[in-house]
Amino acid sequence: MWASAVLLVLLGSFGANALDNGLARTPPMGWLAWERFRCNVNCTADPKNCVSEKLFMEMADRLVEDGYKDAGYEYVNIDDCWMAKQRDANNKLYADPERFPSGIKGLADYIHSKGLKLGIYTAYGNFTCQGYPASGMHLELDAQTFAEWGVDMLKMDGCKQMDRHTMKKGYPQMTKYLNATGRPILFSCSWPDYERGAGIPINYTLVAENCNIWRNYVDIQDSWQSVLSIIDYYAKEQDTLVPVAGPGNFNDPDMLIIGDFSLSVEQAKAQMAMWAILAAPLLMSNDLRTITPEYRDILLNKDVIAISQDNAGIMGKRVLQHHANGIEAWTRPLSNGVFSIVFFSRSVKEPEFVTVVMKALAVSSDTSYEVTDVYAQKSMGVFKPTDSITVYVNPNGVVMLKATPQKVWKVENNMIVLN
Ligand SMILES: *[C@@H]1O[C@H](CO)[C@@H](O)[C@H](O)[C@H]1NC(C)=O
Ligand SMILES: *[C@@H]1O[C@H](CO)[C@@H](O)[C@H](O)[C@H]1NC(C)=O
Ligand SMILES: *[C@@H]1O[C@H](CO)[C@@H](O)[C@H](O)[C@H]1NC(C)=O
Ligand SMILES: *[C@@H]1O[C@H](CO)[C@@H](O)[C@H](O)[C@H]1NC(C)=O
Repeated sequence: MWASAVLLVLLGSFGANALDNGLARTPPMGWLAWERFRCNVNCTADPKNCVSEKLFMEMADRLVEDGYKDAGYEYVNIDDCWMAKQRDANNKLYADPERFPSGIKGLADYIHSKGLKLGIYTAYGNFTCQGYPASGMHLELDAQTFAEWGVDMLKMDGCKQMDRHTMKKGYPQMTKYLNATGRPILFSCSWPDYERGAGIPINYTLVAENCNIWRNYVDIQDSWQSVLSIIDYYAKEQDTLVPVAGPGNFNDPDMLIIGDFSLSVEQAKAQMAMWAILAAPLLMSNDLRTITPEYRDILLNKDVIAISQDNAGIMGKRVLQHHANGIEAWTRPLSNGVFSIVFFSRSVKEPEFVTVVMKALAVSSDTSYEVTDVYAQKSMGVFKPTDSITVYVNPNGVVMLKATPQKVWKVENNMIVLN
């Protein structure tokens, strides 16, 4: 019935070569405009939702006033369509003056005054995906410009670059130019996703040396189907992707769409739990001005966020698949021998139950664990390795557990060892 059981003991071995800018020691958290606000540039027609400094200032205000900043969300990230249609007389990028009258420097000052950080967007190639000027021929100048403005994070896209073979050179060049500015700038690379799309072999050693986070797969859309297809991709590729993740380096399955139009509350809990298990960046793309409390509470769930932000930075993986009822189990080892389990249901019927022997899930097969239900915030008791654990999982939902060993474990030389 259960397709496989994998004991995760060996951790990522890429740590030694990770990008050394001190950033993204845990998966970055914040807000990113793209999925929800796209390239809406007509501020006459839609002043409330167009891509403008006002939008980013309002989101920054909400992050601070509604508890997101206190929960760890710190980046406010601009995506495509912020630029003027041309570079200036000195070839520098500048923001559309009507939509960003303070300029990016002015916006960065505002964001920083709130104790938050500003992220910006460009592309490798001559144009962005939406046809705005991009950095292809101006990597060094643009890195300097972003640093002068006080930018804290950069997403570099790549869709108008016809020769994707050049990305293995171009992205590392940008890494050097960013480093040379002296300003720590978290680097988010879309490069592996474009190589994947073109059938070019991805060298994740090289990616991890040059990027803090990177997109592996297609853009998320506002649909459960999209969330499912992304989860499928990470399950399929987990043997490649798990070893490259670690402090300073994370695979990026794209934005959280919690609080948008498509996900039910169960599905939103599922996306949040799965992104935490995957050690994924938590970049919300939603309207924080109108989000309802039930979705806000999911995004602010301290216990789920603590799992996401665990210091060991290990990415979780799928360990069991129950074909009869569509439930799968994913586990993520956390610091001190603790681990988290997500029972994830693809069922579209009634809540289904699943029973599994503890040692099929655990980091250690000779330790008892105290198990708590993370969303329900209640203890389920102590389980010996041979004890079975039974949970009911709602359709398109999750049960997220945290298991704390009765013996003490620690991470040493990329191994989990008994203390
Ligand atoms: C630049 O790279 C060096 C060497 O890897 C590192 O020590 C330094 O912190 C980096 N600086 C910035 C600003 O990223
Ligand atoms: C913006 O929207 C207004 C009102 O719908 C329309 O009249 C105008 O042509 C649009 N501007 C652009 C640049 O598309
Ligand atoms: C970008 O523009 C330069 C200069 O016009 C040109 O040589 C180069 O081929 C262009 N690159 C792409 C990817 O279109
Ligand atoms: C991948 O990149 C690493 C680090 O730059 C390099 O040492 C290695 O040779 C590359 N592997 C392949 C197959 O090109």
